[in-house]
Amino acid sequence: MGKTKPPQHPAAEWPFKLPDSLTPDQIGEVRHRVDDLDAKAQYGWGHTIDFGPFIKEGVLKDNYLYIGGHFDAWGWWPQSMQDLRVADIGCHTGGLSLLMAHRRAAEVLAVDEIPQHLAQCSYLCQLFEASNVRPLGASLYALPDHVEPGSLDMIVLSGVLYHLSDMLVGLLALRGLLKIGGVLLIESNVVPDDEHSYANFGRFAMGMWWQPSTLCLRDMCQFMGSEGADIRLYRPNRCLCRAEKVTDDPIPFRRGLNYPFEDLADAAPRSFELKPMAPK
Ligand SMILES: C[S@@+](CC[C@H](N)C(=O)[O-])C[C@H]1O[C@@H](n2cnc3c(N)ncnc32)[C@H](O)[C@@H]1O
Repeated sequence: MGKTKPPQHPAAEWPFKLPDSLTPDQIGEVRHRVDDLDAKAQYGWGHTIDFGPFIKEGVLKDNYLYIGGHFDAWGWWPQSMQDLRVADIGCHTGGLSLLMAHRRAAEVLAVDEIPQHLAQCSYLCQLFEASNVRPLGASLYALPDHVEPGSLDMIVLSGVLYHLSDMLVGLLALRGLLKIGGVLLIESNVVPDDEHSYANFGRFAMGMWWQPSTLCLRDMCQFMGSEGADIRLYRPNRCLCRAEKVTDDPIPFRRGLNYPFEDLADAAPRSFELKPMAPK
Protein backbone atom coordinates (compact mmCIF):
# COMPACT_ATOMS: atom_id res chain seq x y z
CA MET A 1 0.00 0.00 0.00
CA GLY A 2 2.79 2.45 0.90
CA LYS A 3 4.48 2.11 -2.49
CA THR A 4 1.56 3.27 -4.65
CA LYS A 5 1.07 7.00 -5.16
CA PRO A 6 -1.95 8.20 -3.19
CA PRO A 7 -4.78 9.46 -5.45
CA GLN A 8 -5.62 13.16 -5.53
CA HIS A 9 -9.17 14.19 -6.23
CA PRO A 10 -10.46 17.76 -6.48
CA ALA A 11 -11.69 19.54 -3.39
CA ALA A 12 -15.42 19.74 -2.73
CA GLU A 13 -16.80 23.19 -3.39
CA TRP A 14 -17.51 25.42 -0.41
CA PRO A 15 -21.17 26.30 -0.94
CA PHE A 16 -21.71 29.24 1.44
CA LYS A 17 -21.06 32.96 1.04
CA LEU A 18 -22.11 36.03 2.97
CA PRO A 19 -25.11 37.75 1.34
CA ASP A 20 -24.18 40.46 -1.20
CA SER A 21 -26.51 42.83 0.65
CA LEU A 22 -24.15 43.13 3.66
CA THR A 23 -22.63 46.57 4.19
CA PRO A 24 -18.88 46.99 4.77
CA ASP A 25 -19.66 47.59 8.47
CA GLN A 26 -21.62 44.34 8.70
CA ILE A 27 -18.80 42.44 6.97
CA GLY A 28 -16.39 44.03 9.45
CA GLU A 29 -18.54 42.76 12.31
CA VAL A 30 -18.39 39.21 10.94
CA ARG A 31 -14.62 39.44 10.56
CA HIS A 32 -14.29 40.79 14.10
CA ARG A 33 -16.45 37.99 15.52
CA VAL A 34 -14.47 35.32 13.67
CA ASP A 35 -11.15 36.76 14.89
CA ASP A 36 -12.53 36.82 18.42
CA LEU A 37 -13.58 33.14 18.22
CA ASP A 38 -10.09 32.38 16.87
CA ALA A 39 -8.40 34.19 19.77
CA LYS A 40 -10.58 32.50 22.39
CA ALA A 41 -9.74 28.95 21.29
CA GLN A 42 -6.52 27.40 22.56
CA TYR A 43 -5.91 25.79 19.18
CA GLY A 44 -7.24 28.73 17.20
CA TRP A 45 -9.63 28.87 14.26
CA GLY A 46 -9.94 25.41 12.65
CA HIS A 47 -10.98 25.34 8.99
CA THR A 48 -10.09 27.84 6.30
CA ILE A 49 -13.44 29.38 5.37
CA ASP A 50 -14.21 31.49 2.32
CA PHE A 51 -16.78 34.03 3.45
CA GLY A 52 -16.89 35.74 0.04
CA PRO A 53 -15.58 39.21 0.91
CA PHE A 54 -12.71 37.66 2.90
CA ILE A 55 -11.07 34.32 3.64
CA LYS A 56 -10.32 33.24 7.20
CA GLU A 57 -7.32 30.90 7.30
CA GLY A 58 -7.51 28.04 9.80
CA VAL A 59 -4.89 25.83 11.41
CA LEU A 60 -6.43 22.79 9.67
CA LYS A 61 -6.42 24.70 6.37
CA ASP A 62 -8.87 23.54 3.66
CA ASN A 63 -8.12 19.83 4.01
CA TYR A 64 -11.78 19.22 4.94
CA LEU A 65 -12.73 20.17 1.37
CA TYR A 66 -10.29 17.59 -0.02
CA ILE A 67 -11.69 14.99 2.35
CA GLY A 68 -15.18 15.80 1.05
CA GLY A 69 -13.87 15.73 -2.54
CA HIS A 70 -12.49 12.23 -2.05
CA PHE A 71 -15.77 11.04 -0.50
CA ASP A 72 -17.49 12.43 -3.61
CA ALA A 73 -15.05 10.90 -6.08
CA TRP A 74 -15.39 7.48 -4.47
CA GLY A 75 -19.17 7.71 -3.92
CA TRP A 76 -18.67 7.28 -0.19
CA TRP A 77 -21.25 9.92 0.67
CA PRO A 78 -24.23 11.01 -1.41
CA GLN A 79 -24.71 14.35 -3.18
CA SER A 80 -28.17 14.54 -1.65
CA MET A 81 -28.42 13.63 2.01
CA GLN A 82 -32.14 14.31 2.17
CA ASP A 83 -33.77 12.28 4.95
CA LEU A 84 -30.40 11.19 6.37
CA ARG A 85 -29.43 11.71 9.99
CA VAL A 86 -25.70 12.21 10.07
CA ALA A 87 -23.04 13.23 12.59
CA ASP A 88 -19.71 15.03 12.38
CA ILE A 89 -17.79 14.02 15.49
CA GLY A 90 -14.95 16.32 16.48
CA CYS A 91 -16.36 18.98 14.14
CA HIS A 92 -14.20 21.94 15.29
CA THR A 93 -15.16 24.85 12.96
CA GLY A 94 -17.77 22.65 11.30
CA GLY A 95 -16.55 22.66 7.70
CA LEU A 96 -17.68 19.07 7.15
CA SER A 97 -20.93 19.60 9.11
CA LEU A 98 -21.82 22.52 6.86
CA LEU A 99 -21.04 20.57 3.68
CA MET A 100 -23.50 17.91 4.85
CA ALA A 101 -26.05 20.53 5.90
CA HIS A 102 -25.92 22.03 2.41
CA ARG A 103 -26.70 18.58 1.00
CA ARG A 104 -29.98 18.80 2.89
CA ALA A 105 -29.34 16.19 5.57
CA ALA A 106 -32.41 15.94 7.78
CA GLU A 107 -30.14 16.55 10.76
CA VAL A 108 -26.41 17.04 11.17
CA LEU A 109 -25.24 16.40 14.68
CA ALA A 110 -22.08 18.50 15.06
CA VAL A 111 -20.19 17.28 18.12
CA ASP A 112 -17.11 18.64 19.81
CA GLU A 113 -15.93 18.37 23.39
CA ILE A 114 -14.08 21.70 23.33
CA PRO A 115 -16.67 24.49 23.76
CA GLN A 116 -14.51 27.09 21.97
CA HIS A 117 -14.30 24.82 18.90
CA LEU A 118 -18.02 24.15 18.88
CA ALA A 119 -18.63 27.89 19.24
CA GLN A 120 -16.96 28.40 15.84
CA CYS A 121 -19.26 25.82 14.26
CA SER A 122 -22.35 27.26 15.94
CA TYR A 123 -21.50 30.74 14.70
CA LEU A 124 -21.07 29.56 11.10
CA CYS A 125 -24.38 27.68 11.24
CA GLN A 126 -26.14 30.80 12.46
CA LEU A 127 -24.39 33.01 9.89
CA PHE A 128 -25.13 30.71 6.94
CA GLU A 129 -28.60 29.77 8.23
CA ALA A 130 -27.85 26.06 8.41
CA SER A 131 -30.74 25.27 10.71
CA ASN A 132 -30.43 21.51 10.14
CA VAL A 133 -27.18 21.43 12.15
CA ARG A 134 -27.53 20.57 15.84
CA PRO A 135 -24.34 21.55 17.69
CA LEU A 136 -23.72 19.31 20.67
CA GLY A 137 -21.00 19.92 23.25
CA ALA A 138 -20.04 16.41 24.37
CA SER A 139 -17.26 13.91 24.40
CA LEU A 140 -17.50 11.15 21.82
CA TYR A 141 -17.47 8.64 24.67
CA ALA A 142 -20.62 10.22 26.17
CA LEU A 143 -22.64 10.19 22.94
CA PRO A 144 -24.69 7.11 23.93
CA ASP A 145 -26.17 9.37 26.67
CA HIS A 146 -27.27 11.96 24.09
CA VAL A 147 -28.14 10.09 20.90
CA GLU A 148 -30.72 7.38 20.39
CA PRO A 149 -29.11 4.00 19.66
CA GLY A 150 -29.26 2.89 16.03
CA SER A 151 -30.50 6.28 14.85
CA LEU A 152 -27.71 7.57 12.55
CA ASP A 153 -27.24 6.84 8.84
CA MET A 154 -23.70 8.15 8.66
CA ILE A 155 -20.97 9.26 11.03
CA VAL A 156 -17.93 11.25 9.94
CA LEU A 157 -14.99 10.86 12.30
CA SER A 158 -12.36 13.02 10.68
CA GLY A 159 -9.07 13.80 12.35
CA VAL A 160 -10.26 12.46 15.68
CA LEU A 161 -9.49 8.73 16.01
CA TYR A 162 -5.86 9.28 17.01
CA HIS A 163 -6.87 11.85 19.63
CA LEU A 164 -8.85 9.18 21.51
CA SER A 165 -7.14 7.69 24.53
CA ASP A 166 -9.05 4.47 23.78
CA MET A 167 -9.83 4.02 20.10
CA LEU A 168 -11.73 0.73 20.55
CA VAL A 169 -14.06 2.07 23.23
CA GLY A 170 -14.70 5.11 21.05
CA LEU A 171 -15.46 3.04 17.95
CA LEU A 172 -17.73 0.75 19.90
CA ALA A 173 -19.70 3.76 21.19
CA LEU A 174 -20.14 4.98 17.60
CA ARG A 175 -21.21 1.54 16.40
CA GLY A 176 -24.12 1.66 18.83
CA LEU A 177 -25.38 4.91 17.29
CA LEU A 178 -25.41 3.69 13.68
CA LYS A 179 -28.36 2.01 12.00
CA ILE A 180 -27.70 -1.34 10.39
CA GLY A 181 -26.41 -0.40 6.95
CA GLY A 182 -25.12 2.88 8.39
CA VAL A 183 -21.65 4.02 7.45
CA LEU A 184 -18.70 5.27 9.45
CA LEU A 185 -16.30 7.47 7.46
CA ILE A 186 -12.93 7.90 9.15
CA GLU A 187 -10.03 10.19 8.31
CA SER A 188 -6.87 9.35 10.17
CA ASN A 189 -3.12 9.39 10.24
CA VAL A 190 -1.75 5.90 9.57
CA VAL A 191 1.39 3.91 8.96
CA PRO A 192 0.77 2.37 5.52
CA ASP A 193 1.35 -1.23 6.58
CA ASP A 194 -1.17 -3.94 5.68
CA GLU A 195 0.93 -6.75 7.13
CA HIS A 196 1.41 -5.71 10.73
CA SER A 197 -1.26 -4.63 13.18
CA TYR A 198 -0.02 -2.03 15.67
CA ALA A 199 -0.53 1.55 16.74
CA ASN A 200 2.47 3.72 17.48
CA PHE A 201 2.05 5.55 20.76
CA GLY A 202 2.43 9.24 20.07
CA ARG A 203 3.33 10.58 23.54
CA PHE A 204 0.47 13.04 22.93
CA ALA A 205 2.53 14.99 20.39
CA MET A 206 0.19 17.53 18.74
CA GLY A 207 -2.62 16.08 20.83
CA MET A 208 -2.26 12.70 19.12
CA TRP A 209 -1.99 9.52 21.16
CA TRP A 210 -1.83 7.07 18.28
CA GLN A 211 -0.71 6.33 14.76
CA PRO A 212 -2.31 3.01 13.77
CA SER A 213 -1.06 0.88 10.90
CA THR A 214 -3.60 0.39 8.11
CA LEU A 215 -4.01 -3.25 9.19
CA CYS A 216 -4.64 -2.09 12.76
CA LEU A 217 -7.37 0.28 11.51
CA ARG A 218 -8.92 -2.60 9.56
CA ASP A 219 -8.75 -4.80 12.67
CA MET A 220 -10.41 -2.11 14.79
CA CYS A 221 -13.21 -1.76 12.24
CA GLN A 222 -13.66 -5.51 12.39
CA PHE A 223 -13.81 -5.23 16.17
CA MET A 224 -16.72 -2.84 15.81
CA GLY A 225 -18.50 -5.37 13.61
CA SER A 226 -17.57 -4.16 10.13
CA GLU A 227 -15.94 -6.70 7.84
CA GLY A 228 -13.80 -5.54 4.94
CA ALA A 229 -13.38 -1.85 5.71
CA ASP A 230 -12.27 0.09 2.64
CA ILE A 231 -9.07 1.97 3.54
CA ARG A 232 -7.34 4.24 1.04
CA LEU A 233 -4.37 6.57 1.36
CA TYR A 234 -5.15 10.07 0.09
CA ARG A 235 -1.97 11.69 1.37
CA PRO A 236 1.28 10.16 2.57
CA ASN A 237 0.50 8.68 5.98
CA ARG A 238 -3.14 9.84 5.94
CA CYS A 239 -6.04 7.65 4.97
CA LEU A 240 -9.77 7.65 4.49
CA CYS A 241 -11.75 4.63 5.63
CA ARG A 242 -15.31 3.49 4.96
CA ALA A 243 -16.75 0.94 7.34
CA GLU A 244 -20.35 -0.23 7.14
CA LYS A 245 -22.26 -1.53 10.12
CA VAL A 246 -23.69 -4.79 8.89
CA THR A 247 -25.22 -6.24 12.03
CA ASP A 248 -26.34 -5.54 15.57
CA ASP A 249 -25.02 -8.94 16.63
CA PRO A 250 -22.61 -8.95 19.54
CA ILE A 251 -19.11 -7.88 18.57
CA PRO A 252 -16.83 -10.78 17.67
CA PHE A 253 -14.35 -9.99 20.46
CA ARG A 254 -15.19 -9.58 24.09
CA ARG A 255 -12.12 -9.47 26.23
CA GLY A 256 -9.17 -7.23 26.84
CA LEU A 257 -11.02 -3.97 27.41
CA ASN A 258 -11.54 -1.97 30.52
CA TYR A 259 -15.32 -2.09 30.59
CA PRO A 260 -17.79 -4.84 31.39
CA PHE A 261 -18.70 -7.56 28.93
CA GLU A 262 -21.28 -10.23 29.51
CA ASP A 263 -18.73 -12.94 30.12
CA LEU A 264 -15.01 -13.38 30.16
CA ALA A 265 -14.75 -16.17 27.60
CA ASP A 266 -13.26 -15.24 24.24
CA ALA A 267 -16.00 -15.04 21.64
CA ALA A 268 -13.61 -15.53 18.72
CA PRO A 269 -10.82 -18.03 18.18
CA ARG A 270 -7.49 -16.57 19.25
CA SER A 271 -4.24 -16.75 17.39
CA PHE A 272 -0.94 -17.10 19.18
CA GLU A 273 0.85 -15.76 16.11
CA LEU A 274 2.64 -12.59 17.24
CA LYS A 275 4.27 -11.68 13.93
CA PRO A 276 1.39 -9.53 12.62
CA MET A 277 1.55 -7.51 15.85
CA ALA A 278 5.15 -6.39 15.38
CA PRO A 279 6.10 -3.08 13.79
CA LYS A 280 8.17 -3.43 10.62
C1 LIG B 1 -7.94 17.71 14.30
S1 LIG B 1 -9.55 18.36 14.71
C2 LIG B 1 -10.49 17.72 13.33
C3 LIG B 1 -11.56 18.69 12.87
C4 LIG B 1 -12.39 18.20 11.68
N1 LIG B 1 -13.14 17.01 12.03
C5 LIG B 1 -11.55 17.97 10.46
O1 LIG B 1 -11.32 16.82 10.07
O2 LIG B 1 -11.09 18.94 9.85
C6 LIG B 1 -10.07 17.30 16.05
C7 LIG B 1 -11.32 17.82 16.77
O3 LIG B 1 -11.86 16.72 17.53
C8 LIG B 1 -12.22 17.17 18.81
N2 LIG B 1 -12.15 15.99 19.71
C9 LIG B 1 -11.04 15.29 20.04
N3 LIG B 1 -11.35 14.30 20.87
C10 LIG B 1 -12.69 14.35 21.05
C11 LIG B 1 -13.62 13.57 21.82
N4 LIG B 1 -13.22 12.55 22.56
N5 LIG B 1 -14.93 13.91 21.78
C12 LIG B 1 -15.34 14.97 21.04
N6 LIG B 1 -14.51 15.74 20.31
C13 LIG B 1 -13.21 15.45 20.31
C14 LIG B 1 -11.22 18.27 19.12
O4 LIG B 1 -11.72 19.16 20.09
C15 LIG B 1 -11.04 18.92 17.76
O5 LIG B 1 -11.95 19.97 17.56
